[in-house]
Amino acid sequence: MTPGQNRRILLVDDMPAIHEDFRKILVPPTACGALGAVEAALFGDEPPAAASAFELDSAYQGQEALARVEASLAAGLPYALAFVDMRMPPGWDGVQTIERLWQSDPRLQVVICTAYADTSWDEVLATLDVRDRLLILKKPFDAIEVRQLANMLTAKWQMTQDAAVQLTRLEDAVLERTREITSSNEALQAEVAERKHLQGQLVQSEKLASIGQLAAGVAHEINNPIGYIFSNFGTLEDYLGKLFEMLAAYEAAEGGVSPPDVAARLRTLRDEIELAFLKEDIPVLMRESRQGIVRVRQIVQDLKDFSRVDSSQDFQLADLHQGIDSTLNVVANEVKYKADLVKEYGVIPDVECLPSQINQVVMNLVVNAAQAMGDERGRIVIRTGVAADNTDVWMEVADTGSGIPPDTLKRIFEPFFTTKPVGKGTGLGLSLSYGIVQKHHGRIDVDSVLGQGTTFRVTLPVHRPATNA
Ligand SMILES: Nc1ncnc2c1ncn2[C@@H]1O[C@H](COP(=O)(O)OP(=O)(O)OP(=O)(O)O)[C@@H](O)[C@H]1O
Ligand SMILES: [Mg+2]
Repeated sequence: MTPGQNRRILLVDDMPAIHEDFRKILVPPTACGALGAVEAALFGDEPPAAASAFELDSAYQGQEALARVEASLAAGLPYALAFVDMRMPPGWDGVQTIERLWQSDPRLQVVICTAYADTSWDEVLATLDVRDRLLILKKPFDAIEVRQLANMLTAKWQMTQDAAVQLTRLEDAVLERTREITSSNEALQAEVAERKHLQGQLVQSEKLASIGQLAAGVAHEINNPIGYIFSNFGTLEDYLGKLFEMLAAYEAAEGGVSPPDVAARLRTLRDEIELAFLKEDIPVLMRESRQGIVRVRQIVQDLKDFSRVDSSQDFQLADLHQGIDSTLNVVANEVKYKADLVKEYGVIPDVECLPSQINQVVMNLVVNAAQAMGDERGRIVIRTGVAADNTDVWMEVADTGSGIPPDTLKRIFEPFFTTKPVGKGTGLGLSLSYGIVQKHHGRIDVDSVLGQGTTFRVTLPVHRPATNA
């Protein structure tokens, strides 16, 4: 017998004499009584040890038995087995009693004891509907029968119990393992997502870097011709001015010096070529062309800034708020009819930067924000603050404009990407800003909700990292 095995038995019988008999059989006064000797003879050499005795409780009616079973359960000391008599007037009979006992404790093994041959066992079994915990013992029975039933059924109770415990442990272990797998799966998924995100960022920054190289090449190629076109243009304007002076002089002298037929030819020619119109139109064309060249020069400069080819300026400690304020003055006209400007400045240290370039970033962001407004007047909030560890500062430009659709969002930093009508946007504002922020070892993040608005956040290190040459 296993130590700690449940040997508790309940005898339910209305006849006190039966209780006496059972007690003699199951709880022998000494370990080596007469019964012990019989048992030793029948089942083995060893006489039963004192420890093999059962704990026997008595109930004389079904109701009393139920009370005992419930009390035993409440005390955490359930019975393993009950011997239940079939007829116990005036209370419940054996079948009723067993039904009630099983309602309280379905694990209870039961032996139903009867002296009556007229019992319909089929009916009994059908009523109880549980055949694997019920044995039938017909009176008169002998001691060894009772003892062996008790031995077997208490052992069966214990095995069932142990198996249930094992099963629970197994289920717990499976649950625990499932939890572990689920959580490591979640961690894995988070890592995959993070990697995808990083990869996306890498692809994006590589793309921008290669576009930057292309832009640098184009900028370089265009820069030279634009340079001499621009300078030739100045000279050309100068020459034209002189030619006009000369022409005016000729015109003034014309009447006096030339013979009438020559003067008439000149008049005809002047009319044919519409000299008066030319004199008016040429300066206009020159002015427009000059503006065009200035614009092209600006675009080339922007491209150079984007591709960071020109980093000749000096970094200096600057007050970002001052820069933002002066930039806002410059763009006030763009903004004032479209949105209210709100400043929510935090306390930030001076930042080592190229102030004019940072101003340009602010300008691009604010102009974009204003241009994103629809017919309704919106709001642009400019916020600043320090990052938690005080090594970075950030500034945000948040608008209540159109928002950016996901497909567009992927492309906004590309040079010449614009969704604005021809003439309204070149598509260089953000690519330029991106280049400038990169040069400062900072970053630009965008958060946009379609139909609600967009927030651009620029984060800059307070001090220029030492690696920056
Ligand atoms: N705050 C914003 N709200 C909605 N869309 C924006 C916003 N900022 C940028 N965009 C989108 O990103 C595109 C690129 O912006 P970017 O500033 O580079 O060029 P642009 O404004 O079109 O032209 P440019 O700045 O050269 O005049 C814009 O055309 C617009 O579609
Ligand atoms: Mg722009």
